[in-house]
Amino acid sequence: MSRTRRPANNCSPSRRLRHSSTRVAPTPSLPRKRGRVREAALALISPVCPEALARAAGLLQAGRLVAFPTETVYGLGGDATNERAVAEIFAAKGRPSFNPLIVHVGGLAEAEALAIFDDRARRVVAKFWPGPLTLVLPRRADSGLSLLASAGLHTVAIRTPAHEVAQALLRETGRPIAAPSANRSGRVSPTKAAHVFEEIGDRIDLILDGGRTPVGLESTVLDLSSGTPALLRPGGVTSEQLTELLGPIAAPAAGQPKSPGMLASHYATSLPLRLEATAARNVEALLAFGPDAPPGFAEVLWLSRSGDLAEAAANLFAMLRALDRPPFTGIAVMPIPEHGLGRAINDRLRRAAAPR
Ligand code: TXA
Ligand code: MG
Repeated sequence: MSRTRRPANNCSPSRRLRHSSTRVAPTPSLPRKRGRVREAALALISPVCPEALARAAGLLQAGRLVAFPTETVYGLGGDATNERAVAEIFAAKGRPSFNPLIVHVGGLAEAEALAIFDDRARRVVAKFWPGPLTLVLPRRADSGLSLLASAGLHTVAIRTPAHEVAQALLRETGRPIAAPSANRSGRVSPTKAAHVFEEIGDRIDLILDGGRTPVGLESTVLDLSSGTPALLRPGGVTSEQLTELLGPIAAPAAGQPKSPGMLASHYATSLPLRLEATAARNVEALLAFGPDAPPGFAEVLWLSRSGDLAEAAANLFAMLRALDRPPFTGIAVMPIPEHGLGRAINDRLRRAAAPR
């Protein structure tokens, strides 16, 4: 795909949105050729201002791809009504075409034009939208959505993100935006603009830089397309919160993922990951949780010293990336409690540690 060469950064500082930053954070996983790589990153990554949003919307309307921040992770966006744009998303990620995408919309009114909402769905939306919750619902026959976006299913996954940059982009574009996480298929989701650049910088036209994404884990995926609500992916909205509102929620049948994206191995680091670690092995790095870390690790990063699960979730993917490099031979992770956001953290860690 051809790429716009114009510098991305044409926002005057006074017009930038609060969240945006001009910094292209150098991370340990950036390639060594700093000069050239940095130049390419600066050409692609833009702070957020009205001009940048207008350019992003124009690119999306023309069928091109734009990465943008949401409150969960960065998304790789394309016009959800444009079959070719959606095909480009699959190609850029190297994503298998049986794995459908999430469609992002500005609010319930836009969502109801695409999917069939019942009372349960409206109740959930009233409580958790905008926010990190995706609903799987029957797709309207006249939705106008790309067939590929739903990978041929009769349902569609849909959400209204809370991040102000995502909201502004949806308003400016005036179309539903299909956006998977902006990483190559099977790898760790990006929580900073620089991560997106490392993952798929050669495949897209623009990265809107909204700084670090605050939640840090992907949205919860809740299936309300049939009888009992089913949790297809734990995420930013916890299963406890959903059960309180809806009553019992089914877990997806083991071995038969209803959500095609929930493959056993996902979110993979290059180095092996060891969970529930309580003592050091040579020459591992450690992701610590809580005040005390066992001694002897080559390097330690703290998901949260105070044992705060929201802080740990926000740090998880960036810290996995930061430690995924020589001289370490593996990454160990201390036990994370299995409640609230801890379930979503452990879900990602188990998939990252699963045999490939
Ligand atoms: O937080 C998020 O959800 C991020 C941001 C960018 O919004 N997006 C994201 O998208 O994580 P992605 O494509 O990486 O994950 C979408 C998940 C996959 O597990 C996919 O299989 C599932 O949603 N999914 C999508 N459509 C579905 C459908 N119709 N039925 C069941 N599962 C579906
Ligand atoms: Mg993903």
